[in-house]
Amino acid sequence: MSARKITVVGAGHVGEACAQRLAEKELCEEVVLIDILEGIPQGKALDQWESAPVEGFDTRVTGANDYGPAEDSDLFIVTAGIARKPGMSRDDLLRTNAGIVRSVSAEIARVAPEAVVIVVSNPLDVMAWVAKETTGFPRERVIGMAGVLDTARFRSFIALELDVSVEDIQAMVLGGHGDTMVPLVSCTSVSGIPVSRLIPPERLAAIVERTRNGGAEIVAHLKTGSAYYAPSAAAVQMAEAIVRNKRRILPAAACLEGEYGQEGVYLGVPCKLGAGGLMEVLELELSESEAEALARSAEHVRQVMARL
Ligand code: NAI
Ligand code: 2OP
Repeated sequence: MSARKITVVGAGHVGEACAQRLAEKELCEEVVLIDILEGIPQGKALDQWESAPVEGFDTRVTGANDYGPAEDSDLFIVTAGIARKPGMSRDDLLRTNAGIVRSVSAEIARVAPEAVVIVVSNPLDVMAWVAKETTGFPRERVIGMAGVLDTARFRSFIALELDVSVEDIQAMVLGGHGDTMVPLVSCTSVSGIPVSRLIPPERLAAIVERTRNGGAEIVAHLKTGSAYYAPSAAAVQMAEAIVRNKRRILPAAACLEGEYGQEGVYLGVPCKLGAGGLMEVLELELSESEAEALARSAEHVRQVMARL
């Protein structure tokens, strides 16, 4: 076990899957699942705990409607909020989810002032900012999950295109979580071979476009909600990097302090994640078009922030 307690706030699709993955990986001694809906976190947590003898994990899973059981958690994954329905953009969720993330963040600061927070709720980059503002935590301890998910989608589509293992695809998707995300084709390789040598430009452009619309593609299928298997896997990979102090380089939303020419805005950038959360933001030299796309993405995040 790497941490004592991890709390997942929001026992909906993403939250319940995060709790199950955390427990199955035994990333902590106890997972607490919190939701405002009475009985839901308790029932889901008990059901997950009853899978422990079959799956063979010893992480206790408990559910609650209050933050007492979350006291002194090492890490929180915040998935509370409403999810997208068909035709809704992530920004449509802005006001409702800002209120929810504010109230959740105030509780986190009260019961676990030393915790690291991974924000998942959308619109992601702005909700991470809301969480940082409300908790008053330093940027090292409030990080947003989107880049790992967007990069996983990109990698999965490249693996399908080339009919090769996903394990051999390295990639990095930067920028805000939304239509302005920036898949870095120049940093994408297949076992070290630049992807542009293996996939023709027009196919690659189509894969980039599919990645940009990856969230909407799932919403169009599901109709009643948005993706949760890949998002929960992505959030838990970040949690694992932090609680196991793996010092992984993962794309994540960090509050920039001058990096990439941006200040005071959350944006997906390459981050070193380990003990204590964000250890470092890596500043890559970008091509002119990549730098422009990242600046446009930051501008979009700022516009959404301004609407709050
Ligand atoms: P969901 O609707 O299945 O679950 C949300 C849960 O939050 C519900 O159970 C609801 O009762 C709960 N909740 C609402 N207010 C709360 C509060 N104040 N305290 C505690 N719980 C509260 O939604 P789903 O699919 O789990 O998505 C959750 C959020 O994550 C959405 O905002 C969605 O857009 C976002 N998301 C973000 C991704 C990313 O890449 N950053 C990927 C996937 C989802
Ligand atoms: C996604 O990309 C809804 O943001 C979520 O699937």
